[in-house]
Amino acid sequence: MIRLEGVGKAFDGQPVLRDISFTVPAGGTLGLIGAGGAGKSLVLKILCGLVRPDAGRVWLDDTELGPLSERELMDVRGRIGMIFQNYALFDYLTVAENIGFPLARMQRPADAIAARVQTRLDQVHLPDIGPRYPRELSGGMKKRVCLARATVHDPPIMLCDDPTAGLDPVTTNRIFRLLKDLQAQNDATAIIVSHETGYLRPICDAIALLDRGRLVFAGPTAEAVEHPEVRAFMEGEPP
Ligand SMILES: Nc1ncnc2c1ncn2[C@@H]1O[C@H](COP(=O)(O)OP(=O)(O)OP(=O)(O)O)[C@@H](O)[C@H]1O
Ligand SMILES: [Mg+2]
Repeated sequence: MIRLEGVGKAFDGQPVLRDISFTVPAGGTLGLIGAGGAGKSLVLKILCGLVRPDAGRVWLDDTELGPLSERELMDVRGRIGMIFQNYALFDYLTVAENIGFPLARMQRPADAIAARVQTRLDQVHLPDIGPRYPRELSGGMKKRVCLARATVHDPPIMLCDDPTAGLDPVTTNRIFRLLKDLQAQNDATAIIVSHETGYLRPICDAIALLDRGRLVFAGPTAEAVEHPEVRAFMEGEPP
């Protein structure tokens, strides 16, 4: 379960998130949408403890993040698979080392790591790039490596920030299906941030729309598509 209650955040006195509350039940998938700068990435950073909110409370399953120390937050992050919007791959590690990183940190045996890394590389249709470095990859290839790394340890919580930005339609479709498969396989609780609302809708049980730091709507997908502002956003109409 992922739960926010009254979350607020300001930078230099400028509020960028105000009174955000929503819950993603265990095993659910929420699509988080909104215009550039609405605060989507910030919500995910707060959920993985990289940014502490000024107001409100956050829970991942039974764990409330607010009272945790940095050390305890690190342990919580082990339960999260995060795809960062800006890749955040380690330049000095090979693709295989990047993908295996969460497992290496858990001190899993090298052969088990290698096998799992190869499974994920095959699943993202990049079977041969393990020895290469991130700088040698296209943007779309990097996104797929990020997906492989974020899910290599079968995390019960998945936070995906724009996982298909810059990808062609065929790869976008594949990535969304793969995300859904991995989420279902682990019965993970997921939030997916995306501008690709057409692909997002069928794989989400719920949709949340942010507008300049405020939550306009959060609820079941069937209701979201009937909500005038959500519908206007999805159809690309100006406000
Ligand atoms: N560390 C920070 N310091 C100052 N301002 C920040 C910081 N992080 C985010 N912001 C501000 O918070 C607002 C929301 O940013 P955020 O990155 O969450 O937007 P977003 O919805 O993810 O946009 P996009 O669709 O372009 O990725 C922006 O105005 C941004 O400038
Ligand atoms: Mg963002």
